[in-house]
Amino acid sequence: MEVIIQPSAKDCAAMGARLIGKLLDSKADAVLGLATGSTPLPLYRELVRMNRSEEIDFTGVTSFNLDEYIGLPGDHPCSYRYFMEQELFKDINISAGQTHVPDGLAVDVSEQCNAYEEAIRACGGIDLQILGLGSDGHIGFNEPGSSLGSRTRVKTLAGKTREDNARFFDSIEEVPRHCITMGVATIMECRQILLFAFGEAKAEIIARAVEGPLSSMVPASVLQMHQEVKIIIDEAAASRLEHADYYKEVFAGKPAWQCI
Ligand code: GLP
Repeated sequence: MEVIIQPSAKDCAAMGARLIGKLLDSKADAVLGLATGSTPLPLYRELVRMNRSEEIDFTGVTSFNLDEYIGLPGDHPCSYRYFMEQELFKDINISAGQTHVPDGLAVDVSEQCNAYEEAIRACGGIDLQILGLGSDGHIGFNEPGSSLGSRTRVKTLAGKTREDNARFFDSIEEVPRHCITMGVATIMECRQILLFAFGEAKAEIIARAVEGPLSSMVPASVLQMHQEVKIIIDEAAASRLEHADYYKEVFAGKPAWQCI
């Protein structure tokens, strides 16, 4: 696990975009795992800018999103499909058929979850997964208590998550209670993971996920077991890390060939 502390969210996003650019330079048909929420927005803006200036090409890319609310159609302004279309897909040259977001209206949800796993497998697995972090430690929508061996499935959203996400809806009553999410084990199979977190509000949960004990009560703590994970955070989100100075020293002392 590599913890990278940058002065601002913008710097973190630029670093993430460079890492994605580097991946696509070596593998034009890479499979990207994408996330929603406010955290990835600066990254998506940077990817759009790089795509416009022809620094990055998404023509061969396939994408899989982490999760979706059950009950929301893809054209609902609060659905994650809609979010992805608005914030990224419509502004980059990824082909529409290559983007995957779970279907919140699937009739046979369990069949859809299996098909999602199968589609990821059929593409050769996810090369690089973007993650945000829920204030309760969730990744995707894997709430505290999620099996660390879980696969794509239906979850019930925690009250805290519905409260946090109510800002995107007209009222908390409108926030769906259920979702489809990639499982913890699905995420752990991604070859490379970049988790982003910004702001003081994420400082405590970042400290628990990075330096606390590994526990299904903080699903993001399982990332401590992954060999290719970068935790890319701003100073505010890093403010409760006991070993922040050490992480900075490691990063500053990286040999040139490892630099991002
Ligand atoms: C939602 C998403 C997560 C995301 C989290 C954090 O719950 N399902 O994937 O990481 O929100 O959101 P934000 O980035 O807005 O803090």
